[in-house]
Amino acid sequence: MSASTVYPSKAEIIQHSFLDEQKYQDLYRQSITEPEKFWAEHAQRLDWFKPFSKVKDTSFHAPDVHIRWFEDGYLNVSHNCLDRHLEHRGDQTAIIWQGDDPSEHKHISYRELHTAVCRFANVLKAQGVAKGDVVTLYMPMIPETAVAMLACTRIGAVHSVVFGGFSPEALASRILNGRSKLVITADEGLRGGKTIPLKANVDAALTRSDLDMVEKVIVVKRTGVDVGWREGRDICYQEAMAQASDDCPAEVMNAEDPLFILYTSGSTGAPKGVLHTTGGYLTYVSLSHQYVFNYREGDVFWCTADFGWITGHSYVLYGPLSNGATTLVYEGVPNYPDLSRFWRIVEQHKVNLFYTAPTAIRAIMAAGDELAQAADSSSLRVMGSCGEPINPEAWEWFYRVVGDSRCPIMDTWWQTETGGIMITPIAGVNDLKPGSATRPFFGVQPALVDNEGNEISGAGEGNLIIKDSWPAQMRTVYGDHDRFVKTYFSTFTGAYFTGDGARRDEDGYYWITGRVDDVINVSGHRMGTAEVESALVSHPKVAEAAVVGYPHAIKGQGIYVYITLNVSEAPTDALKEELRQWVRKEIGPVASPDVIQWAPGLPKTRSGKIMRRILRKIAADEHDNLGDVSTLADPSVVDELIANRVGAP
Ligand code: PRX
Repeated sequence: MSASTVYPSKAEIIQHSFLDEQKYQDLYRQSITEPEKFWAEHAQRLDWFKPFSKVKDTSFHAPDVHIRWFEDGYLNVSHNCLDRHLEHRGDQTAIIWQGDDPSEHKHISYRELHTAVCRFANVLKAQGVAKGDVVTLYMPMIPETAVAMLACTRIGAVHSVVFGGFSPEALASRILNGRSKLVITADEGLRGGKTIPLKANVDAALTRSDLDMVEKVIVVKRTGVDVGWREGRDICYQEAMAQASDDCPAEVMNAEDPLFILYTSGSTGAPKGVLHTTGGYLTYVSLSHQYVFNYREGDVFWCTADFGWITGHSYVLYGPLSNGATTLVYEGVPNYPDLSRFWRIVEQHKVNLFYTAPTAIRAIMAAGDELAQAADSSSLRVMGSCGEPINPEAWEWFYRVVGDSRCPIMDTWWQTETGGIMITPIAGVNDLKPGSATRPFFGVQPALVDNEGNEISGAGEGNLIIKDSWPAQMRTVYGDHDRFVKTYFSTFTGAYFTGDGARRDEDGYYWITGRVDDVINVSGHRMGTAEVESALVSHPKVAEAAVVGYPHAIKGQGIYVYITLNVSEAPTDALKEELRQWVRKEIGPVASPDVIQWAPGLPKTRSGKIMRRILRKIAADEHDNLGDVSTLADPSVVDELIANRVGAP
């Protein structure tokens, strides 16, 4: 092992593991050399209505990029997550729902969840939703969201979940892209004691004249507040459910039928609709959920992600339920009523496997050890982290204080596009190094290449690519296959480009170094700087905007914005606030700038390209080390920006 601190697994974790080092090596080798055999065998963990005869037909070579897994097999996701468990674990809890208010929680058994899903599937059918239709969800973290997602899969509708923190504008553009005829929402969401006006936001989105394809809005009563009601369009979830039959056979779906769309940001253009399909996705999230976390029958699994992100799809819902697990759905936030909330929930519901994000860990860590030790977290066995790099200090604190130096931490690297975990430790198998996502999961062939595409062997650093397909890979950008090919398969010939950089050490462990494109990661939320810029320049007083990420102690990265105003505008603090509010309106609170600096000029090349490298350095307060500025059209702009740098919070 290399010089960095190494944490071997404790004996009780090793004992519990499904694998040891040798078995991992053997299985991994087989998954790469004989992928068809490996995946044909592991796909048997699911129930297939009609077995597949073909396993893999994939090509990463532009222009004919195609990804097909199990293409002549038929199955249904809700059947695999519900019906097949009824015989043996019908009365077992499928979902523990913990409300924002600590006193509010409930257990929903597999049988109850199955009944609710069948009923809601019939509600959707009664509204004319058919196989292949896109249904948009704009929902809080409540059981009804899981019911709605599973009901879509039951009838073959394609769900498109939009995170409740997005603005009406952002919601509208996603509804439009998916051409949804039906939207599901709640009267209000509840997070940290505050309400979120979800139904009012839907109403605001639907005032757009190009959204007249939306025929129905189903509204779950969550807080019970009075909301605007459009007769003929709006339907009360609870009333519709009371009248629906609970008999709804699961639609027989082809393995390659679309399962869901989820929008994510890239370096350019509007967010892309990442399309995932049925058979490969479910096989992969089911297998990875079990192996990575060492999920065992009876374990309570808690992933703190929101249903609005891929982690909420793969590891709150589909992975755990396909494995018959008890999954915890938490409505609230880590700091309400105070920063001990996560551990109080762990204690109350005896959580065994806990999966969260570095930003939450850093925020809780900043409050000191006492709050973390205020509750009994001895039920925990394995912990996980995802969404952004976890700094070694946060890792060590999480390990020592929360996990009592007993629970290994699975630092899992993956993306919306990858559908499931790609580079990760496996509980009880490999030694851990804080800050490293360690090694590839089964079927994943990562490689590092330089900017010319030459592969780097042994220890080294470069662009992270994946050389061959895995079953949960996205299939296309919804409605724009060319964009899919161009974004992921045109930078390096014949490979999937992740957009991330990574280092590989002498033990073959991967260390993700962060995005190498213009995507930033703020509190685990992925954002394109171009999206925020485009929101800002649409403000009438703004002439030009450049957005970069800078290191932020809690959020990982913060949003630093340079603004050039129209000549007639005065730079005031009131205008800064106006611009912040503007971004919140255009995209949502997640994109709100942390720092705004007035920039009478931006550093540009003679051909007019903004030199973001320089702006990133100034934002990070590393201006002693700006590199070559000789290609700038006007180098004096840089001195002006350094002199007026705004101290970042
Ligand atoms: O930059 C990587 C970072 O998050 C990006 C993917 O974000 P998203 O599509 O929202 O998916 C989140 C689900 C995990 C990646 O391109 N990232 C994700 N996990 C890690 C990470 N960076 C470092 N370490 C990780 N474990």
